[in-house]
Amino acid sequence: MSLKNKNILLGIGGGIAAYKSADLVRRLKERGAQVRVVMTQSAMEFIAPLTLQALSGHPVASDLLDPAAEAAMGHIELARWADLFVIAPATANIIARMQAGMADELLTTCALATAAPVVICPAMNQQMYQHAATQHNLQSLQSRGTHIWGPDSGSQACGEVGPGRMLEPLDIAKRCEGFFAEKLLAGQKLLLTAGPTREAIDPVRYISNHSSGKMGFALAQKAAEMGAEVTLVAGPVNLPTPAGVRRINVQSAQQMLDAVMQAVAEQDIFIACAAVADYRIAQVAEAKIKKSAETMQLALVRNPDILATVAALQHKPFTVGFAAETHDVEHYATDKLQRKKLDMIAANDVSIAGQGFNADSNALKVIWPNGSQDLPATDKHTLAGQLLGLIAQVK
Ligand code: C5P
Repeated sequence: MSLKNKNILLGIGGGIAAYKSADLVRRLKERGAQVRVVMTQSAMEFIAPLTLQALSGHPVASDLLDPAAEAAMGHIELARWADLFVIAPATANIIARMQAGMADELLTTCALATAAPVVICPAMNQQMYQHAATQHNLQSLQSRGTHIWGPDSGSQACGEVGPGRMLEPLDIAKRCEGFFAEKLLAGQKLLLTAGPTREAIDPVRYISNHSSGKMGFALAQKAAEMGAEVTLVAGPVNLPTPAGVRRINVQSAQQMLDAVMQAVAEQDIFIACAAVADYRIAQVAEAKIKKSAETMQLALVRNPDILATVAALQHKPFTVGFAAETHDVEHYATDKLQRKKLDMIAANDVSIAGQGFNADSNALKVIWPNGSQDLPATDKHTLAGQLLGLIAQVK
């Protein structure tokens, strides 16, 4: 009953994913939440309000200008009642109208009128999602503090494949739980690195690693939700900054080290999640190298180890490393824990398909000097919460 005594206002937009919202109501209710539903007129073309009324146990609100409904629970009361306002599915249209601050129907009016945190779960055709207008609107909403959960990628109702699927109801319900989870990291300052680094060869080429940054960004988002003050040093990745997180963008390992060392003094926790290039080019060419010979050689020099540098500080934060291995995972991870003098290491087996690099899910074996725990495969967001929970516990 992790959502006991929580009032969740669920906004349903007019998209095919609206049929999943019925299941979402159930998932929220079975966790103890009180759920009230607001629907747009077009949402009612996809799913009957009666279904949602039966599942939520409350009349569905849909009309801003209906005197009877307003008398029962007006839009301002509804907006005040909510502890969390979740809009799922959020169509491109709703997102655009929210971005513009429009109050032309009940759902977007509630979004303006509520002081509760607002969550958007986008659901639309992949082309619409990727359109610059939608991306701009989402970024703008996010910069104002709106939480964006998802979308997933995959096959769509329209027959296309790509990003734009609404997160599954169970996933959304779990994130709601996480949202209200105890603020285990309240008052803690947490610094983390995420994504790859890029080491220039010449002005147009570089060497780098496979890393989407998803795990690090999930950790940053989750840590902020758990009350931490988060600084995220990010290599080049294509991910939006999680709400409430201070982000410092870098390219190379040296820049990442510099940014970390500048921030590390006042930190309580440091998590090195970045896939840092182990070597950089000894002599970066000033002009583009022209191709001529059949083979060419590049001299490489070792990059500084950011994690080991932090772990060697006299007043170091609680220092957590990651180990991506393809074999003998536990052996190498334990060795790394000891050699780099870490407080904890999270190891993942990157030889397993669909896990780790660029994937949305992952599994971790977490090891610290006098204990260990397996965190089985799940989405990176849930996993991030579990790892941070362990850090709070062991620290
Ligand atoms: O030794 P290895 O690169 O496998 O260690 C991985 C861990 O060390 C990760 O936590 C990674 O972020 C960190 N690391 C680092 N700086 C480097 C190399 C790795 O912080 N130059």
